[in-house]
Amino acid sequence: MKVALADGIYWVGAIDWNLKDFHGYTTHRGSTYNAYLIVDEKVALIDTVKAPFFAEMLGHISEIIDPAKIDYVISNHVEMDHSGSLPQIMKAAPRARLVTTEKFGEAGLRKCFHCDWPLVPVKEGSELTLGKHKLSFIPLPMLHWPDSMATYCVDEAIMFCNDAFGQHFASSRRFDDEVDLPVVMLEAAKYYANILMAFSGLVLKALDKLKNVKMNIIAPSHGIIWRAHRNEILNAYADWAKGGGKKKVVIVYSTMWGSTEKMALALAEGVATQNVEYTVYDLGKSDRSDIVADVLVSRGLAVGSATLNNGMLPLAAAFLTYLKGLKPVGKTGAAFGSFGWGGGAVKAVEEELKLAGVEMVAPGVSIRYVPEPGELEQCRELGRTLAARVAG
Ligand code: FEO
Repeated sequence: MKVALADGIYWVGAIDWNLKDFHGYTTHRGSTYNAYLIVDEKVALIDTVKAPFFAEMLGHISEIIDPAKIDYVISNHVEMDHSGSLPQIMKAAPRARLVTTEKFGEAGLRKCFHCDWPLVPVKEGSELTLGKHKLSFIPLPMLHWPDSMATYCVDEAIMFCNDAFGQHFASSRRFDDEVDLPVVMLEAAKYYANILMAFSGLVLKALDKLKNVKMNIIAPSHGIIWRAHRNEILNAYADWAKGGGKKKVVIVYSTMWGSTEKMALALAEGVATQNVEYTVYDLGKSDRSDIVADVLVSRGLAVGSATLNNGMLPLAAAFLTYLKGLKPVGKTGAAFGSFGWGGGAVKAVEEELKLAGVEMVAPGVSIRYVPEPGELEQCRELGRTLAARVAG
């Protein structure tokens, strides 16, 4: 079945129902690889799909036009979930020239595919007229790689923005007004947290660049296409990139014999006294890519660990390493944990949180062996202090 975005402009991508991991980020709801075909006096294919899905994409294209008639393949991004089918499509479309960003796109494609395809390098403001449709190109560096760009169809005001505004969300539907919006927004937040949060400064620059560009449709390379809720996703990106978030505290811990868990729950009680929302995650039972999505939309973060060999437990270390790489913006935090003799976990957690850019609200709480009632009260107080800051 043909899926049209506008006259002569079609979705020709593929649905990956079984994608459950995207380089370490869990994708419980699968994904799509969105490719788009513009049929005009000249024919352009915008992006391709992951290599195993080439036949699915070719089938969609063939329903509309002979693939050999493609004049341009536009590579908005070199990463293989979008470029993986280039070798096959460049064979199926022998007259096609390959459009990519100058320097990073050119170098990325040459180095990834060791190819001699005829490249058309483009930069900010470059244009390509296909007939009645005119395209312009907007580099979006680091959203998600240095080569990333958006292709803008000027006459239809459609922004083919590749990874930006995407979600790992497989669906039989293609548009935002055909699906459950809160679920899509949840997946968009998880996508932002795990893929783009580290580049929030560049997201703000990109939003500034796009603020005066009319966009009737925002067509990312993953998930649902935005046509009814464009402002919702644009506003959410602005909020996430600025480090906004709800008056909420995320409490994350790794426990050895249950003491740090008791501390986490006492801290949660303290948060609750301030009428601030919270969630609690045991790192041994939770998914870190889900947790960072919650961190993105929350203002507060408390991390706890029992002590092991004068440092923190490996699950806490792995979580904080991941968080540090994602560079969360505007978060306020606290550390807590237990020890038997030498201690060290709380200090190590505090150091990592600071390196992640989290502002510490108060000195961490460190408790020997099993917490007594008075020590649990210290945890409640830390929770109250953190919640008060988050609510303020
Ligand atoms: Fe969807 Fe950065 O690739």
